[in-house]
Amino acid sequence: MNNTSGHTIKSEDNTFFAKPFMKWAGGKSQLIPELTSRLPKEIIDTGKIDTYIEPFVGGGAFFFYLKSRFQINNSYLFDINRELIIGYKVLQNDPKELINHLNILEIEYINKNEEERKQYYYNIRDRYNSQINSFDYIKYNTNWIERASHMIFLNRTCFNGLFRQNKNGEFNVPHGRYKNPRICDKENITKVNLALKNTEIICGDFSESSKYVNNNSLVYFDPPYRPLTKTSSFTSYSKEEFIDNDQIRLSEFYKELNKKGAYLILSNSDPKNEDPNDDFFDNLYKDFIIERVNAKRIINCDPKKRGEIKELIIRNYP
Ligand SMILES: C[S@@+](CC[C@H](N)C(=O)[O-])C[C@H]1O[C@@H](n2cnc3c(N)ncnc32)[C@H](O)[C@@H]1O
Repeated sequence: MNNTSGHTIKSEDNTFFAKPFMKWAGGKSQLIPELTSRLPKEIIDTGKIDTYIEPFVGGGAFFFYLKSRFQINNSYLFDINRELIIGYKVLQNDPKELINHLNILEIEYINKNEEERKQYYYNIRDRYNSQINSFDYIKYNTNWIERASHMIFLNRTCFNGLFRQNKNGEFNVPHGRYKNPRICDKENITKVNLALKNTEIICGDFSESSKYVNNNSLVYFDPPYRPLTKTSSFTSYSKEEFIDNDQIRLSEFYKELNKKGAYLILSNSDPKNEDPNDDFFDNLYKDFIIERVNAKRIINCDPKKRGEIKELIIRNYP
């Protein structure tokens, strides 16, 4: 297989083409070509990444892509969303049991009529939400497998296929009407499991990634978007908000990691889409290379506003 530079990478395992196991708001699949063409020359030339770090992993579209095309020695993936992290850890530790759970959910769901499916969906959703206060999110145990299966089930069968939580952490998306949803994607679960080898998955704030970063690291930041409009609330991936102060905190963190000599690449929404005079990110990242690329924003709730917009890509290397 060739990477972008024509460098041949050996296919020693079957990690190729693993896709995100969750449909996630802000998923970066459509930005992958823009990001890849801006990888450091050294990485493109050698086909190797010593340490890959993603402080806001979400669905992990870029991680899975890189993992299938580059030789990555170690990866560290962070996210503050504890439900998502449960999913990653179960995919890493217990893929077969997860497949068994999802298989049962799929068979039970698919064989029902529309009204029964709806009932089944809300039963799972109620059960999922009722566990929040008593669930052990700290210590990995077999209950994590069922919870991850429910999260994936809800993601596959809910309206618009997203994962949205309210302030209390409850999953609050209504039932969707997919005719034949793929609830148990056995093949992809197996690929994701392989892609997660040599990977540490950590639930926490982005700043906790600092200790893993050195001058052999590539860090890709994809923080929650700064809302395009004052009314838009699409930064709510989890019950925690990501406000302008967090964007500022992140830019300070970026400067701190820059001093460590790591390669840093960051994507974000461009506030100039709405207000051409908004220099928020231009000011925060003025010491770095800022580019604006075309992107299709798919998380806007208003379909009319889902057209081409600009996205920022910010690098600390030529
Ligand atoms: C834009 S999404 C990442 C999307 C991802 N690149 C993808 O392809 O799916 C941002 C992620 O940051 C996470 N997040 C929000 N606040 C955070 C924080 N303070 N530290 C770490 N992760 C955070 C959210 O849970 C969400 O998964």
